[in-house]
Amino acid sequence: MARKILFLNSSPRMSSNTNIVVEWVAETIAGSGFDVEIVDIAQIYSKVPGCLACMGCQMHKGYLCVIEDDVQKLLARIPEFDAVVFATPIYFFGPNAQLKRVLDRWLSLTKPDESGNAIFVKKDMVLGLISTAGGELSDGLGLANSSFISLANFVGLDYHSLLIPNCPYEAGAIHNDQAIMEKARSFAAELLASVPA
Ligand SMILES: Cc1cc2nc3c(=O)[nH]c(=O)nc-3n(C[C@H](O)[C@H](O)[C@H](O)COP(=O)(O)O)c2cc1C
Repeated sequence: MARKILFLNSSPRMSSNTNIVVEWVAETIAGSGFDVEIVDIAQIYSKVPGCLACMGCQMHKGYLCVIEDDVQKLLARIPEFDAVVFATPIYFFGPNAQLKRVLDRWLSLTKPDESGNAIFVKKDMVLGLISTAGGELSDGLGLANSSFISLANFVGLDYHSLLIPNCPYEAGAIHNDQAIMEKARSFAAELLASVPA
């Protein structure tokens, strides 16, 4: 059975630079025989602005976000995938709100064990991050990466990132950028090599 990789893309702009990088990575992965799915989480229907800290998921015996909307449906599908790659532009020194309103609801995909350590809904999954930023690594991109490294450690998953600093702001401006395209292809190869057979 083909291994499956999910991209959760949060850039709200059409033809955005983050979208272009996601497309390059996804194309390379699909070309290697993997199933690829890209979900535009900037547009997904969410009944609430983010996690409500209701703890309904922690009281539920399964791994279920109890808020009934399209984010709930998406989260229920996460165990189908061998890798999940978040993609976000940096807004105000971190991932954008469109990503956070979905990401915080990943609490429902973890349960504490007896020592309080997180048990993620699935072992042997890989996490990834694709992020573009107008500034340097020190202008938020590095912080976002550190935050995802901590998240991956928390849930016990392998993690890989593709960070694009100094990205020109105009939407689509990088569509001919061979250096970024090359980085995208290398990142795809790194991700493919990390996904368990
Ligand atoms: C609201 C907003 C906040 C931003 N904040 C930052 C920031 O803190 N650091 C940074 O490096 N770039 C920042 N940028 C620039 C974007 O990260 C950059 O242009 C990114 O590549 C846009 O991605 P997109 O083409 O997918 O929309 C910001 C852009 C916007 C619109």
